[in-house]
Amino acid sequence: MENPFKYGGVVRGSYFADRKDEIKELRREMLNQNRVFLVSPRRYGKTCLLLNLVDELRSKKIACAYIDLNACPDIKSLASMITTLSSRELETNRDKLFKILSGLQRLRLKVSTGPDGSIVAGVELAVDEKEALEALLEGMRHTEELAAKKKKKLVIIIDEFSDIQKYNGASVEKALRSEIQRQSEVGYIFSGSEQSVMLSMVREKSRAFYKLGRILELGPIEQTAYIRFIRGWLKKGKFAFEGQHLTRVLEIGNHVPYNIQRLCSVMWDQALESRRISPELIEKLPVVIAKQDSPHYEMQWRAASQPQKLLLIALSRDQSVKPFSRDFQLSHGIGPSSSIKASLESLVKKGILFKRLDGSYRFVDGFMPYWIDQIRRNLY
Ligand SMILES: Nc1ncnc2c1ncn2[C@@H]1O[C@H](COP(=O)(O)OP(=O)(O)OP(=O)(O)O)[C@@H](O)[C@H]1O
Ligand SMILES: [Mg+2]
Repeated sequence: MENPFKYGGVVRGSYFADRKDEIKELRREMLNQNRVFLVSPRRYGKTCLLLNLVDELRSKKIACAYIDLNACPDIKSLASMITTLSSRELETNRDKLFKILSGLQRLRLKVSTGPDGSIVAGVELAVDEKEALEALLEGMRHTEELAAKKKKKLVIIIDEFSDIQKYNGASVEKALRSEIQRQSEVGYIFSGSEQSVMLSMVREKSRAFYKLGRILELGPIEQTAYIRFIRGWLKKGKFAFEGQHLTRVLEIGNHVPYNIQRLCSVMWDQALESRRISPELIEKLPVVIAKQDSPHYEMQWRAASQPQKLLLIALSRDQSVKPFSRDFQLSHGIGPSSSIKASLESLVKKGILFKRLDGSYRFVDGFMPYWIDQIRRNLY
């Protein structure tokens, strides 16, 4: 039997744990064609949740276009992505789709061959780059009209939405807002992990997306349901274990779904021969993962300055410490506050730490503290 605890990519179907309430909530919002901002820290499972929602909505004959803003470097690619994906969802007949897409003014039909050799229709910018925003709005208007004509509900999901700022212009955001606000046939989900960026986009009066929709803050997977999921797979794999020990896996993983999947996956592999999961084995798991990922950590470590390393060591011992307090600076021999601030900012930029909404700093990768702890003990 293959390891059922998948991580790193999108998990679907029986490999996808719980999120029943969240799916139900989002489905309800989308049936009412509302707008929702889905926000959480990284690796909480937004993308997985959204793609499982897409599967569910499609099974109910609702058209869904999923767009990852990371994959759209500029407005013209966003224009072509939204128009192409939505139109394809709404019109499955190829000839009719060709005809529909040929009717656009600023976007021209582009026909290419798909990976399986089939012919796929898309659109690309037909006019000057300066008109990319107009082309995007035309594409959005067109998809709404098409949805109305086909009497189908359309849901557009934009993942990594905080990336919208890279198109640098309040004018883009404003234009998008007024177009979205005008639409009544389309439901939107905007999802992002830059929590402070996402929240200020929706909560600040001066911002284009102010109060455009409700905010849904995605938390960890509900504990009992997650344990049931893990327990179910372990039973299928004929492992001997005590249910109460599994809560410890959730704790070690800080309740972050990515971490938990990773821990469970290693737990499965480590116990493959003995078929026994002991509390000792569970405690060992993060160290095994830290070892597996050590080339990556080594690179990050080498690129860090000495004060940054000292900070990382301190934070790896206790993530609740307050780096700006006098106590902290005295006991770790680092400071002053201004240089600590610079170090923290640089570590955030490098993607090693992130700043939580309460102002504290945490490791992006929850297993890095275990690696730091190991090098401190000179085990590597
Ligand atoms: N419901 C779930 N069941 C099982 N595993 C999950 C679930 N949700 C998330 N995961 C695990 O967490 C990993 C990260 O999930 P995902 O990429 O969806 O997070 P994200 O919030 O979109 O992260 P980012 O903010 O970095 O884009 C997945 O690869 C998967 O291993
Ligand atoms: Mg994601």
